[in-house]
Amino acid sequence: MRIAMIGTGYVGLVSGVCFSDFGHEIVCVDKLTAKVETLRAGGVPIYEPGLDEMLRRNVEAGRLSFTTDLAEAVKGAQAVFIAVGTPTRRGDGHADLTYVYAAARELADVIDPGTVVVTKSTVPVGTNREVARVIAERLVETGRDCPFEVASNPEFLREGAAIEDFMRPDRVVCGVDSEVAEQVMRDIYRPLSLREAPVMITSLESAEIIKYAANAFLATKITFINEIADLCEKVGGDVKAVAKGIGMDGRIGSKFLHAGPGYGGSCFPKDTSALARIGQDHSVPMRIVETVIDVNDRRKRRMVDKVLDLLGGKANGKRIAVLGVTFKPETDDMRDSPSLTIVPALVGGGAKVVVTDPEGRREGEALLPGVTWAEDAYAAAVEADAVVLLTEWNQFRALDLKRMRGGMRGDAFVDLRNVYDPEDVTQAGFRYVSIGRSDAEPTAGAPVTELMPST
Ligand code: UDX
Repeated sequence: MRIAMIGTGYVGLVSGVCFSDFGHEIVCVDKLTAKVETLRAGGVPIYEPGLDEMLRRNVEAGRLSFTTDLAEAVKGAQAVFIAVGTPTRRGDGHADLTYVYAAARELADVIDPGTVVVTKSTVPVGTNREVARVIAERLVETGRDCPFEVASNPEFLREGAAIEDFMRPDRVVCGVDSEVAEQVMRDIYRPLSLREAPVMITSLESAEIIKYAANAFLATKITFINEIADLCEKVGGDVKAVAKGIGMDGRIGSKFLHAGPGYGGSCFPKDTSALARIGQDHSVPMRIVETVIDVNDRRKRRMVDKVLDLLGGKANGKRIAVLGVTFKPETDDMRDSPSLTIVPALVGGGAKVVVTDPEGRREGEALLPGVTWAEDAYAAAVEADAVVLLTEWNQFRALDLKRMRGGMRGDAFVDLRNVYDPEDVTQAGFRYVSIGRSDAEPTAGAPVTELMPST
């Protein structure tokens, strides 16, 4: 099937490349000439494991091409995907739909009759019907007779694991309004049926809500375990054990229960904020989600205190090595990364901050003024008073702790991802603080045996 993909951002590019790998003929279109030229030359503007190889393979096979010409891209396409950005609108938390509606209006002039216009961008409830209205309005303006369909097809891709998520999804959600659109969507995703991935057909509105509800639920789950971690620190307990203990209950599930410095990234902060706004607009306040947003924001700021506590309360004059600045491993994405709150606070407090990140430098350099960049963790830690492990890249999971400690002038290790075993770090000569693992483990008070009544 011939498919056009509008927008070669993260979602558009991954989706376009993966669809071509299904065997479909894909034309990706973007207004940015430089980006299209990079892609045509086989370059990939983002870091996503496996994407460059898959892109090259499908370009060579003649199934994948890139253009700036919308009319050329959609000619003969049975489906046109809108995968443009929906950033948070400045000031009010709403998703900015300018690009989505602009694309819809332009499409009205160039699509073939019978095309299904599929929205893949994350959009508030009602947007797909509005897309249909915008196209219909433009068709009336131009007097063009061109029947079309719309569909909603939200994505659930994790950065760093996007290809795996696309190729082996838990489910594919397609919101449709007609049997024709349903059939086209089923045909597009037929290759996945061999892997028994369920394709769920819903109304347009349900599909739109599923996307926001899924991300808000996951953000809530993380925030919940983060608060439980705080409790563990106070009363004695190990959040890893607690997460395991609750996660083994099939109704809860073990995923997304890793306590940390607070969630970040391109989706959770944006989508929770948009869902809260949608609720307010419809007089159905999303109070849980609103609280999650607030708790997560405060958490990022509180992580600074964790570092300072171990440094005697002051950053001034201290040298601090920060390992990892991207919002999670296997991506170069810095959007809403906890590092953007924590690092500037340390720099502002007078610390000399040396950061290292396997992929984050290109994006991070402009966003983190006043820091020095180091090649690796050992170089970053030279003469440091403290090491802060902020993003759990594999490169930081098996450090030679004694070697690192040997190059430092201080002995503080703040592990905001609970990567290390407290005993190992302490044995290497560090004072160690992590998340939700009280120093008083295994019990906060007296040993249990002492509490037993004597017989
Ligand atoms: C997320 C969703 O997982 C994906 O389905 C959706 O389509 C887009 O948003 P992504 O933002 O790429 O994907 O990353 P994800 O792996 O979900 O992590 C998001 C944030 O939560 C990161 O900052 C991560 O460090 C944090 N996180 C995740 C935790 O703190 N604990 C966890 O247990 C899981």
